[in-house]
Amino acid sequence: MSFPYSPTQAYPPPQAQQPTPVVMPSGAQRPRLTFIGTGYLGATYAICFAELGYEVLGVDVDEAKIAKLAAGEVPIHEPGLDELLRRNLAAGRLRFSTDYREAADFGDVHFICVGTPQRPDGMSADLSYVETAVTSLVPHLTRKALIVGKSTVPVGTAEWVEQLVGKHAPAELGVEVAWSPEFLQEGFAVEDVLRPNRLVLGLKSAWAHSMLFAAHKGVFELAVNEDREVPVVVTDFATAELVKVAANAFLATKISFINAMAEVCEASGADVSQLARAIGYDDRIGKKFLRAGVGFGGGCLPKDIRSFQARAQELGAGEALRFLHEVDLINQRRRGRVVQLAAELLGRPYGPAGPDLSGMRIAVLGATFKPNTDDVRDSPAIAVARKLARTGAQVGVYDPQGMENAKRDLPEVSYAQSMTDVVRDADLVCVLTAWEEFRYADPNVLGALVNGKRVIDGLNCLDQPLWTAAGWEFRGMGRPNP
Ligand code: UGA
Repeated sequence: MSFPYSPTQAYPPPQAQQPTPVVMPSGAQRPRLTFIGTGYLGATYAICFAELGYEVLGVDVDEAKIAKLAAGEVPIHEPGLDELLRRNLAAGRLRFSTDYREAADFGDVHFICVGTPQRPDGMSADLSYVETAVTSLVPHLTRKALIVGKSTVPVGTAEWVEQLVGKHAPAELGVEVAWSPEFLQEGFAVEDVLRPNRLVLGLKSAWAHSMLFAAHKGVFELAVNEDREVPVVVTDFATAELVKVAANAFLATKISFINAMAEVCEASGADVSQLARAIGYDDRIGKKFLRAGVGFGGGCLPKDIRSFQARAQELGAGEALRFLHEVDLINQRRRGRVVQLAAELLGRPYGPAGPDLSGMRIAVLGATFKPNTDDVRDSPAIAVARKLARTGAQVGVYDPQGMENAKRDLPEVSYAQSMTDVVRDADLVCVLTAWEEFRYADPNVLGALVNGKRVIDGLNCLDQPLWTAAGWEFRGMGRPNP
């Protein structure tokens, strides 16, 4: 398929080169949008696109979640989202529903935002939610529509979704499919949706392109008002799907690279923080995503590198991604490193079955996989707290936002109401999520509460000289002992 302009360019393109405007199937001026799946991704998109002026319907099978959203309550912790939700509900642009028929009646463009978790029986992604979303929606369609995948999926999924649509949608409507992966980061999700650093549009027809252009016009207009451009890559299905997993695989590799350097620094007495700073000055390397620590977690990076390997294997290209297995192993090893450091600081031997830390009280600061979220999925902090609990130590956890989720995931430790509560009488403090509250905590104040002034900085986020000056025995990740 050819377009009248170069497929990779900054948008909006000059008027003459923009895709030909099309009449919306619903007859509305601007496309009406549905976001199917109101988890992190779908809820954020639904709310932000309403903010951009679109009429939006958020759809989910989870009645409790829909009731909360409809009542103006965001079910997740994401800075800035509450206010936008309430504002757009009040403006009447945003509604929520559990009814697929209503979604089909309402929408011109339907974004599939459901989860694609790792399958319990292997490394590949579970696509059953994508399948259910598509097959629940399309039989109710009564006019042409565009189904746009946003969920992170194995390459080949968009073609499969197209076949599902062909099988389940009334044939005469000519319902089409496109794929447009998302790149939002938890904690910065609102900004990432309103001001994306790029858009990737995997599509097959000029109509799909015009529809997607119309569905993102609000994003382009905001950019123009702010004198910015939004780079857009228009491409095929397979490339669009791969862009997303390739980006996450690259980020995971970058983190594991610096964590591998941390291991070498530990063996040689070098300092990985200084090393990262020094290599990061080279623009080709860049300083972002080079913070060594307890490794990456969350609902995306870990599962994405695994399902990417599984898919490559199916395609006969498994060898190409074998390094991702190593990336995963390096990441797992960092979690164990905290337990080694704990044994070292507490003067307990580290046997083949790990150390025996019974009788010790360990305060874990942090539970979420990173700050500014309440998400504990595959959180290194939770994994380390679990490992510490298995050594026989008494482990207490405090997190500013993730307590409820953490309690469900890790019931075997105790939970405190505040940072000062959790550190009281502790023999060791481990900082495992880089919340500001922990980074800027006063080591003198905390020092007066603990039983032993020992701290492990699992993220290399503390001001080490300050803590050492306050009398703390300090261990970082990939850094020499002070
Ligand atoms: C990640 C990607 O960054 C997003 O672009 C992508 O859209 C998203 O996954 C997704 O697939 O939906 P997110 O899971 O929110 O976003 O988290 P990141 O900010 O990427 O952090 C991932 C993990 O890496 C965290 O545990 C963080 O602490 C860790 N990390 C990050 C490091 O250990 N070192 C660093 O230098 C940076």
